[in-house]
Amino acid sequence: MSLAFPVPVKPVIQPPPMVEEVLTDDERTALKARIKALMKQQDAVLVAHYYTSADLQDLAEETGGCVSDSLEMARFGHAHPARTLIVAGVKFMGETAKILNPEKRVIMPDLNADCSLDLACPADEFTAFCDAHPDRVSVVYANTSAAVKARADWVVTSGIAAKIVKYLHQQGHKLLWAPDRHLGDYVQRVTGADMLLWQGSCVVHEAFKAEALKKMRAEHPNAAVLVHPESPESVIALADVVGSTTQLIEAVRTLPHPEFIVATDNGIFHKMHAAAPGKLLLEAPTAGEGATCLSCAHCPWMAMNGLRNLAAVLESGGNEIHIEESIRARARLSIQKMLDFAAAEKAGQIQLGD
Ligand code: 13P
Ligand code: SF4
Repeated sequence: MSLAFPVPVKPVIQPPPMVEEVLTDDERTALKARIKALMKQQDAVLVAHYYTSADLQDLAEETGGCVSDSLEMARFGHAHPARTLIVAGVKFMGETAKILNPEKRVIMPDLNADCSLDLACPADEFTAFCDAHPDRVSVVYANTSAAVKARADWVVTSGIAAKIVKYLHQQGHKLLWAPDRHLGDYVQRVTGADMLLWQGSCVVHEAFKAEALKKMRAEHPNAAVLVHPESPESVIALADVVGSTTQLIEAVRTLPHPEFIVATDNGIFHKMHAAAPGKLLLEAPTAGEGATCLSCAHCPWMAMNGLRNLAAVLESGGNEIHIEESIRARARLSIQKMLDFAAAEKAGQIQLGD
């Protein structure tokens, strides 16, 4: 379906330089021991995204926390009794934890860990966009600020976006979607919903290249191609599986293929290797004709999380997330709708049909 509506065209967001933490074995051991003691003292649990470092993912699991996609991060942090939630990921993930758990202290290793989608969707512009289309239900991706969530009717993550949009479409709603144009376009294609799309994109997934991927696939005829739906349509068209980070890890575990070409942040390989130790995992190409490679398959904002700054934050008591209460309360409603939908769908209470 072509869109006959004017939508804001967003400039390309320039990511910060990639700075990854490098530690010796002794430093790693000492930092982990210090962090574990501080977490115990402060009744803290660590919730980490699959794109963070192997050290943080291991620490989360060693301390009873979780490593997951953004939907499960929200669910887990909400259900866990700890009084402090440490969110290793990007800012919108910390904000979501705070929105759902106002009584808890929510901290992050680095509050500058942003996201190009969030940055491409300022709340005032999004509000103007909604105001211009009052006949449409607004659905925003979780990769947005608390203020944008507060203005939206629904929040979705990549793991549940298509199901919620399909449900709203079946209820007869026309939709307004922000901020990821590729995910929005993909969801529109699979659901047939009438969607007006904001024009943001992810600097990591936008860099995957279809022509180079075709070549790679020809060189690896036994490989399945796994693609996160923040990737361009031409890359999604080559996928055997399109899904959220959790769904892609599940594909590596369950599909019979001995090799996988993976179009998402390479931080995910840590979990994929653990899920299927004997299988060959290859990074989908970000080079090739027209390559800009601003990120080279790794998110520079996710890389801002490390053991050093986590230890420092626990010691200093800084980097707490605060959200103005009226915004938090409104954002809570649109996130809660997603969590309730997910629970109802899991319990078989929502039938979406074909
Ligand atoms: P997931 O919800 O699949 O974890 O994706 C979050 C994200 O930021 C992907 O770039
Ligand atoms: Fe945002 Fe892309 Fe980084 Fe995910 S990988 S946090 S969408 S910039």
